[in-house]
Amino acid sequence: MKEIKICDLSFSYPASPEKWILKDISLTIEAGEFVCLLGQSGCGKSTFLRLLAGLEHAERGSLDIDGVEIRGASLDRSVVFQDYGLFPWMSAGENILLALRQKYPKRKKAELREIAGDMLEKVGLDRAVFNKLPKELSGGMKQRCAIARSLSVDPPVLLMDEPFGALDAVTRARLQDLILSLWDKEEVKKTVVFVTHDVDEALLLANRILVFGQSPSHIIYDEKVEIGQRASRETQFEDPELLSRRHKLIRSINRDVETRI
Ligand SMILES: Nc1ncnc2c1ncn2[C@@H]1O[C@H](COP(=O)(O)OP(=O)(O)OP(=O)(O)O)[C@@H](O)[C@H]1O
Ligand SMILES: [Mg+2]
Repeated sequence: MKEIKICDLSFSYPASPEKWILKDISLTIEAGEFVCLLGQSGCGKSTFLRLLAGLEHAERGSLDIDGVEIRGASLDRSVVFQDYGLFPWMSAGENILLALRQKYPKRKKAELREIAGDMLEKVGLDRAVFNKLPKELSGGMKQRCAIARSLSVDPPVLLMDEPFGALDAVTRARLQDLILSLWDKEEVKKTVVFVTHDVDEALLLANRILVFGQSPSHIIYDEKVEIGQRASRETQFEDPELLSRRHKLIRSINRDVETRI
């Protein structure tokens, strides 16, 4: 369980230092929280995730995990990218082994292959997928491999950037259920930051919903959701309480959109 603390964070890309992408963001993400982050396209969600992943560095403000400043990538924080991020020349299994070798450099290859196979099964894939190249897999299968790779190193912090954005509705629903059940089952919960454009996905998954307004990005909506109040597929579009939360969330996003048109 890891707490993420962000203090007065401002960020601009070196190529355009005068343009703030994120401005004065202060936020504490509690250990074990499942945060869904929404906001208009271009408002800086991926940038924020890249900062958390340690792939970008902020000149102003601080980003700490359990009191330790984020400096570069770490096996403590795994990222699932929208475009899967699998190396196309390696088989699905080798992609997972690559991560496992970094995490467990002293373990035998056979042992790591066993873990990779178990992970493939855990995300609902056949072990035979191990030897397939990414191009031989469907979008949903590739995304499952990417999730298996991220989970295989058992990261206390999981960062997901629109991981299901390109998938059909059925595969998407299956993977949402999968990620939620894996998170629910764990005694020591992972801290998850999950970027999405889909309000209903956020209501299904999150126990905290954040919306970034633009530009520069800042927090315009912050709602904590008790586990029991999370939407379920059955009640999603029926429960009046859920519908009212849904409208409130959509209104806050729309208001931000309107101010920018
Ligand atoms: N490497 C980069 N160099 C300079 N500017 C960048 C870079 N990457 C992103 N930006 C700019 O930063 C802003 C935020 O981009 P970002 O990708 O974080 O948005 P986003 O909220 O993830 O959008 P989307 O929902 O479309 O994925 C945009 O104006 C974008 O043009
Ligand atoms: Mg993005």
